[in-house]
Amino acid sequence: MPQSLTRDLYVVFGNPVNHSKSPLIHRLFAEQTAQQLSYQTIAAPLDGFTPALQQFFADGGKGCNVTVPFKEQTFALATQLTARAQLAGAVNTLTLTAQGELLGDNTDGVGLVSDLQRYLDLTDKRVLLLGAGGAARGVVGPLLAENIAQLVIANRTPAKAQTLVDIFTSADAECSRMLSACEFSELNGSFDIIINATSASLAGTIPPISASLIHAETLCYDMMYSAQQTAFNHWAEQQGAGLTIDGLGMLVGQAAESFAIWRGVKPAVEPVLAQLKLLLTE
Ligand code: ATR
Repeated sequence: MPQSLTRDLYVVFGNPVNHSKSPLIHRLFAEQTAQQLSYQTIAAPLDGFTPALQQFFADGGKGCNVTVPFKEQTFALATQLTARAQLAGAVNTLTLTAQGELLGDNTDGVGLVSDLQRYLDLTDKRVLLLGAGGAARGVVGPLLAENIAQLVIANRTPAKAQTLVDIFTSADAECSRMLSACEFSELNGSFDIIINATSASLAGTIPPISASLIHAETLCYDMMYSAQQTAFNHWAEQQGAGLTIDGLGMLVGQAAESFAIWRGVKPAVEPVLAQLKLLLTE
């Protein structure tokens, strides 16, 4: 019998998804925790995600990750949602429950926060989040939960940043003390942490923010990762940022959280991240 028929089956849906690191990450987690499972990729057609997802679960799939561009559709398809997925407006982790429900969760924000915490304590930090799309929305709640002093969301289209602020302040009025929105040109002061959640990186460009926002203690974090330094991190380093980090640790962190949801055991991120870094530089 093929191994995939005897082991619990998990997949990641995306388009494109062929170069996803998730199968490797989950294989390493499974080895590390002695869990028997199979993890594959499914490249769903852009107009055929729903039937592909239904077929996967009809065929006995236990759970899946979902990446670009299907996270919002998955949010709509989930029959139950965690509170953090509800606030994120997007789902990256689906689990088939014992009661037959499709439970949607979002582990992206936990992935980011746990990676940031490997470098610094978030308490009382001034945080700038660049971008107000799906990637940004997914991390706002988990950042606010860490006793930071301030979160400024800056976006090319400021109305979208304001919409995010409204979503989070209406869920918890306390947030209004530390959460605000603006456009890039309105930014001033300096920040302890600057997170690039815009898709500008995909085109190798950077959001037009002032270099004066960065100081020698600033940690700059690009949610994107690549073998070479990202355009944003290259620029940030040139402006004197204390530390520049790419999104590889966030990727492994969100995967670890998904794995824990499915298998009830939390794998160690550090050794898997080290292995991935080695592979990327080969
Ligand atoms: P994702 O799911 O990756 O967040 P998205 O929801 O399409 O994708 O959001 C993309 C984000 O990147 C938005 O905040 C977008 O700004 P607008 O809301 O003004 O469109 C931002 N973005 C994309 N290209 C950008 C660029 N060249 N400079 C600055 N911001 C950019």
